Amino acid sequence: MGKTAIVTGGAGFIGSHLVDALVGQGWQVTAIDDLSSGKRENLNAAASLREIDIVDGEALAEAIEQERPSAVWHLAAQASVTASVADPRRDLLVNVLGTLNVLESANRLGVPVVFTSTGGALYGDRAPLPTSEQQIPEPLAPYGASKWAAEAYVRTWSASSQVPNAVCRLGNVYGPRQSPHGEAGVVAIFSHHLHAGRTPKIYGHGKPTRDYIHVSDVVAALIACSGRSGAFNIATATETDVITLWQQLQAIAGTEIEPQLADLRPGELQRSCLDIGLAESEIGWRPQVQLADGLRETYQALVAEFESRDGLPN
Ligand SMILES: NC(=O)c1ccc[n+]([C@@H]2O[C@H](COP(=O)([O-])OP(=O)(O)OC[C@H]3O[C@@H](n4cnc5c(N)ncnc54)[C@H](O)[C@@H]3O)[C@@H](O)[C@H]2O)c1
Repeated sequence: MGKTAIVTGGAGFIGSHLVDALVGQGWQVTAIDDLSSGKRENLNAAASLREIDIVDGEALAEAIEQERPSAVWHLAAQASVTASVADPRRDLLVNVLGTLNVLESANRLGVPVVFTSTGGALYGDRAPLPTSEQQIPEPLAPYGASKWAAEAYVRTWSASSQVPNAVCRLGNVYGPRQSPHGEAGVVAIFSHHLHAGRTPKIYGHGKPTRDYIHVSDVVAALIACSGRSGAFNIATATETDVITLWQQLQAIAGTEIEPQLADLRPGELQRSCLDIGLAESEIGWRPQVQLADGLRETYQALVAEFESRDGLPN
């Protein structure tokens, strides 16, 4: 029998890729997901699914005790910045109480947790670029605040239980299976519009910058961090503005669509670029996928998904 892993949020975008990789490495994987934004069809057929809301501490504890995992990756979250602005209490419940529930259940059994925090929404607009983990966070939106609070519990539970828990502060992740229907995930959103020949809205007039990282590089980092302690930026240390990203995708799609430029939305950051030196030196991880290659592969995969699944945008 292989080792057992629990992946919360395993039916989501990043979680489902992590599940695929773990299954490929011989793990028995159980996803815990309430399917609020994730989809059952994202989940690897070799993995099982427990439909649980992580805010329900009792149900979660029971599931983790029954599974007796060797490792937990905690990705389930309220992951939308604008939803966190609209409903900060639900954001707090899922991201803070939900994380505390996961930590209590896993660490009580001596099981390490890897938690996905945000590098993009944590540091705020005044941080020097590329931003290191030493920078004191100044989140602009409740989503960044709840992730930061959850990080504190991750550290505290490591200290009190002597179980190593790691925090991965992710840049802007892109790749196949990312939903084009959310407010983030700009590569998926642009790809959906390009495929349909539609005009997208580009916020911040195309000037905001982000640190885009391919999902396969994130998965490698998440696996490498299991059993480690500490907080690590997981990104590429490369700053790309949104209009350049749009132009690169246009070139791949072979289209010439004029985007509609709009102001930034509340809680959104002007610039983001993360220092990844700590992850390189401490866990020996570094990103492998160049943006141009990742965008081409992702566009092709997403187009295949749009055509087989949910068609074109309304
Ligand atoms: N995508 C990015 O660029 C990015 C950047 C930084 C951090 N993150 C973090 O990475 C993690 C995964 O993000 P993603 O992009 O795959 O998002 P996603 O929305 O695709 O995945 C989140 C998953 O969690 C599940 N979920 C949400 N609330 C839940 C609850 N209360 N109980 C159980 N399951 C619940 C959803 O159904 C979904 O399957 C999140 O923690 C997110 O905050 C993502």
